[in-house]
Amino acid sequence: MSKEFGMEAPLSKIAVSKAHGEDSPYFAGWKAYEENPYDAVDNPNGVIQMGLAENQLSFDLLEEYLEQHPEASSWGPAMSTFRENALFQDYHGLRSFRKAMASFMEKIRGGRSKFDPNRVVLTAGATAANELITFILADPGDALLVPTPYYPGFLRDLQWKTGVTIFPVLCDRSKGLQLTLSSLGSAYADAKASNFNVKGLLITNPCNPLGTAASLSLLQDIIFFISDKNIHLISDEIYFGCVFSSTNLFSISDLITNAVSEQIHIVYSLSKDLGLPGFRVGALYSYNDRVVKTARRMSSFSLVSSQTQKLLAFMLSAEEFTVKYIKKNRERLRERYELVVDGLKEAGIACLKGEAGLFCWVDMETLMDEKTPEGELRLWKVIVDELKLNISPGSSCCCSEPGWFRVCFANMSRETLEVALKRLKDFAQKKTKNI
Ligand SMILES: Cc1ncc(COP(=O)(O)O)c(C=O)c1O
Repeated sequence: MSKEFGMEAPLSKIAVSKAHGEDSPYFAGWKAYEENPYDAVDNPNGVIQMGLAENQLSFDLLEEYLEQHPEASSWGPAMSTFRENALFQDYHGLRSFRKAMASFMEKIRGGRSKFDPNRVVLTAGATAANELITFILADPGDALLVPTPYYPGFLRDLQWKTGVTIFPVLCDRSKGLQLTLSSLGSAYADAKASNFNVKGLLITNPCNPLGTAASLSLLQDIIFFISDKNIHLISDEIYFGCVFSSTNLFSISDLITNAVSEQIHIVYSLSKDLGLPGFRVGALYSYNDRVVKTARRMSSFSLVSSQTQKLLAFMLSAEEFTVKYIKKNRERLRERYELVVDGLKEAGIACLKGEAGLFCWVDMETLMDEKTPEGELRLWKVIVDELKLNISPGSSCCCSEPGWFRVCFANMSRETLEVALKRLKDFAQKKTKNI
């Protein structure tokens, strides 16, 4: 609100900058849901939230563990552990938790990679880890290459406060939105031609682009590329526990060689794999000693509460629980994914083959009145306002061509998902008949 008399006292450039990217349809769709949320009984014509990549499929397993292990969330007999948790926490975090996190990271990669707890830097989610590593690798005015489509939050996390610019690596329909060595090379050359100092490449692994798998040979190409250009690789592996493919998907950490290891940094979080975004638990894992040391110092700004660390140290060290959780969570995700793919097929709508993650990329180019970014936004408005489905248009994820929509499938009940698919099918059929 403006002041009644005189000028408002000015704020910093960062505070007033729009670089956070929160004025996009991605966030506007959330608002539509919040104002009129669907409920099967109380509001059956409300908006169904399909724009939120949340994993709500395995809460029962977490709750069962907590019920059977009250020691994980209690302070012990006579409050014996209360004081040590309430008092000063240094920025290394609890050793028991870092150990449990490293071991969980190994498990979700099928035991192929090893993680050293001394290299785990705890952060308040992947959001903080991505910003932290950007601050460490790049100066204001430098660029990071990021393949499209990408998580809209990267605008905020990588560039808003850091002053770094995201330079998109354009991935298109002809290659199923998959990253290629040639698209990487062109983006690097374009950034250089625009006088950017390219400091690194950020990929979301294993889902590149967020929903289709990065193959082994693609990861090898990426390693070759960062070695050749002498730049860093940030691998955001927030979805690694959400692999539902029957083939083995590889983490960049499976392929590390001494020659490039110091250029590789992994971002991880429990927001998707354990479905705990509210707990704000993430980590930066780097093979570079200087980066680990600096990241620890900087992590003071975004630590994880010791109470949360204590609870998760118990949970993630429980061998039987973690093995069962990982297996069941994957089975449930696969089932959901198949339900969506079948539903879309029935509606005559195409989507990309996914192997991991909590959403799929749906191609609705044929339903647009015009194959332009404006046509995509018009279709998106109809889907939100009339179909009452909040899905995210590709433009909000910086897609290189119009017509793509991101559809989340793990943040609602099976019944709600069926309602959403029915709304889409009715719409697509009506559209096709009119054409
Ligand atoms: C690729 C990616 N990175 C980071 C994040 C942020 O995760 P967190 O809740 O752990 O901060 C998300 C959340 O959707 C994401 O999709």
